[in-house]
Amino acid sequence: MKDITIKGLTFVPYLSREDIAKQVERVAAEVKRDCVTDSPIFVCVLKGAFMFAADLYRAIDMPKSEIAFIRYKSYSGTESTGEMNKILGLNDDVTGREVIIIEDIVDTGLTAHTLRSDIEAMHPMSVKMATLLYKPESLKHGKAPEYVGIEIPPKFIVGYGLDFDERARGLKEIYVLKKED
Ligand code: IMP
Ligand code: MG
Repeated sequence: MKDITIKGLTFVPYLSREDIAKQVERVAAEVKRDCVTDSPIFVCVLKGAFMFAADLYRAIDMPKSEIAFIRYKSYSGTESTGEMNKILGLNDDVTGREVIIIEDIVDTGLTAHTLRSDIEAMHPMSVKMATLLYKPESLKHGKAPEYVGIEIPPKFIVGYGLDFDERARGLKEIYVLKKED
């Protein structure tokens, strides 16, 4: 794994494909173990969670489950804007259903908290969240996610679905913004 430069910022290797795959398998096993129905609905939060959701959903392998997609945006560049824009809503009926939100990363928790409240207002049986990455020191809104792949310090990362200004989502590994010396 080599350093990469995007729009003048350098990112260094942080998590390998193996590191990610191992945690995806573990989270999948935990989610599956805890499901109380055989037909939960998984809600993938676009765009960032698409790659994690694809791998997690396959690993969970529950033939009667469903997957849906929703889009929220709170980030601009490398900073959270503190405002939530709902871009693509949830059309699927979640009433009385077991809902598991699939997120790429929980940073301030604003996206996670807003999503939970919006879905809870639709009267599901339960709402839980599975996130690949979690920055516990940055949490300002709501509660910690029920399922976490990897806890990380409050640094800016890219790859495996996560972007810097829409770039770098296709990287198979995760990279962290290099500290200026
Ligand atoms: P929050 O609402 O502050 O928790 O931020 C959540 C959203 O911001 C995530 O779903 C990501 O889309 C984005 N985000 C947060 N931290 C990072 C990061 O380190 N790299 C890329 N995107 C991030
Ligand atoms: Mg996201």
